Amino acid sequence: MVLRPYRRSDAAAWSEVRCANQAWLAPWEPSPSGRWEDLNSPAAFRYVYRDHRRQSRRGEAMPFAVCLREDGRERLVGHLNIGSIVRRAFCSAYAGYWVDGRVAGRGIIPTALALAVDHAFGPGGLHRIEVNIRPENGPSRRVVEKLGFREEAYHPRYLHIDGAWRDHVGYALTIEDVAAEGGLLARWHRLRSTAS
Ligand SMILES: CC(C)(COP(=O)(O)OP(=O)(O)OC[C@H]1O[C@@H](n2cnc3c(N)ncnc32)[C@H](O)[C@@H]1OP(=O)(O)O)[C@@H](O)C(=O)NCCC(=O)NCCS
Repeated sequence: MVLRPYRRSDAAAWSEVRCANQAWLAPWEPSPSGRWEDLNSPAAFRYVYRDHRRQSRRGEAMPFAVCLREDGRERLVGHLNIGSIVRRAFCSAYAGYWVDGRVAGRGIIPTALALAVDHAFGPGGLHRIEVNIRPENGPSRRVVEKLGFREEAYHPRYLHIDGAWRDHVGYALTIEDVAAEGGLLARWHRLRSTAS
């Protein structure tokens, strides 16, 4: 698995994976402002890419393409963003993610999230990462629970997702939670090896 910044040349692969996964992703994403195929076309990626670049440059977000390296080739299979970064006394951000349903259940996003959190706590200079999840999104709740995020809050009508204001469960992790274990990826590796 590879976590890397987006490239302009990701347009076709990004569009293919987004269009193939409409039914899989739509229930968990911000209500769309147009037709799915238009918002996820290769042409639309130009705006997504520009937005990612602008937010990264301003220090507001760390958007990553999640890729698999198979047979010497790299395949874009998902997305992970550390976004809405606030610094000063907060040094906190929100993580969001998705993976291609065709490769779900292989631990790709827990690994990607662990890598991204370690990056955010290390070179990124952040102290706290929060993940907000619809209560009925069992797979996503499993991701953060497996990694040991703390369930901290219940937010009624928190985000406008898939056409309505939806409740969310708030999970969080601070740097102190993983420092003694050598980071979140080290914790994830340890947990996986104990489980197998
Ligand atoms: C949530 C999501 C990112 C998890 O990514 P992943 O890489 O599949 O994560 P995991 O492999 O750790 O699987 C998480 C859980 O999904 C469930 N799962 C496993 N295989 C699955 C499959 N083929 N299809 C659906 N769910 C599956 C299991 O409950 C698993 O937990 P377990 O390891 O305790 O059995 C992914 O399901 C997804 O993209 N969902 C749609 C978008 C979304 O919900 N984004 C998050 C919004 S908060």
